[in-house]
Amino acid sequence: MTDHPTTLGDDFVWGVATSSFQIEGASSERGETIWDRFCSIPGKIADGTDGRIAADHVRRARDDIALMRELGINAYRFSIAWARVMPNGRGQVDESGLDFYDQLVDDLLDAGIEPYPTLYHWDLPQPLEEVGGWASRRIVDCFVDYAGAVAARLGDRVQFWTTLNEPFAIANHGYRTGEHAPGRTSVTDALAAAHHLLLAHGSAVPVIRAHSPGCEVGVVLRFTPVEQVDDDPAAEAMANLIDGQENRWFVEPLAGFGYPSDTVRSEGWDQVEVRDGDLEIIARPIDFLGVNYSTRQYVDADGNRVSTGRPITDTGWEIAPDGLYEVLHWLDDAFSFRKLLVTANGAAMPDEPDADGWVDDQDRVDYLRSHIEQVQRAVANQIPVAGYFAWSLLDNFEWAHGYAKRFGLVRVDPTSHDRTPKASFHFYRRVIDANGPCTS
Ligand code: BGC
Repeated sequence: MTDHPTTLGDDFVWGVATSSFQIEGASSERGETIWDRFCSIPGKIADGTDGRIAADHVRRARDDIALMRELGINAYRFSIAWARVMPNGRGQVDESGLDFYDQLVDDLLDAGIEPYPTLYHWDLPQPLEEVGGWASRRIVDCFVDYAGAVAARLGDRVQFWTTLNEPFAIANHGYRTGEHAPGRTSVTDALAAAHHLLLAHGSAVPVIRAHSPGCEVGVVLRFTPVEQVDDDPAAEAMANLIDGQENRWFVEPLAGFGYPSDTVRSEGWDQVEVRDGDLEIIARPIDFLGVNYSTRQYVDADGNRVSTGRPITDTGWEIAPDGLYEVLHWLDDAFSFRKLLVTANGAAMPDEPDADGWVDDQDRVDYLRSHIEQVQRAVANQIPVAGYFAWSLLDNFEWAHGYAKRFGLVRVDPTSHDRTPKASFHFYRRVIDANGPCTS
């Protein structure tokens, strides 16, 4: 139980988050993405699955909005598939692809739910990968054109825009470790990709504003606090390096401080991609910073993640709710963003459906409750956290894990795709209804 008073205002944003590739399906109605290609390579996805049907959301969007209504959320964070809007990534716009999002926005607004679209959540059109992907500077103009096409169509109704979801994961997992699409393993490409992602973000901000008068624009980063596992100075140095790579690399330039010099040195980055004026573009003012938080990590002198024996989720992540407070406090203290939103927080759990598909996921309930308490704590301490989005509405395609790791508040039957709200759905509904006190 929390001892933090409920101080969430009436305008507190309660939402759920999803992403296009992870839920939409209907892949034949859009262009090929790097994730379609990656899924076709044997061994890349743990259970050998792909995103062709996913949670079948394109077909069931109205049913899903009905579920959101039942849940009582006032905001829905989703992403737009670039390849549904521009099948080749540039040039011709597919108006029928935009129609889907146009209708989604209208239906959400009719349901009293504020749309929070993200323009890029990892599903790059494959033709852009073929001309260099995020490692090539030419992608910046492509992203700006795409952002402009979407904002021109939806900007009269969408008030809250996010450019990118987790540039760290895009650059690191996609270009350095290769565990995500496009599966490259080049430090040079990863560093170039990271810079072009930030540049694409900053370049798109004024274009979005021009099409969407009075809107708010932000970007979403993932933060994972890093601790050294013991007193070994080498472990301390490693923890600092990983903190620089994962947590400081993106937020510091966005906040106008440039890239963290200690990490730039450790990486041996010559910054050849950084041209005059780039850092100013990257630091263009934003209206909110989105914070994705799942866990904290302990590392040894070799940079390996070390288990502490504390409780973990089904993806092996330590359950560390106080890390969320720590991140929010640090961000406010160090950078003073006008507004913070917790844009994704959730857990994979080993859900066991009964014969009716009912999942009594008290472990996920505990996870959500303990993290929402930390949001309350942050608000009580005057940290400007304006909203919380649970990850995720539906069981979905969890990237390299395929469908084996489930994060949904709603179970999606793997065969029929029928939806069944879990215990955590009902719990979150009570939280929203009471605007915070998460006691039952
Ligand atoms: C990412 C999602 C991912 C989830 C769980 C979120 O923060 O944006 O794409 O599925 O974390 O790993």
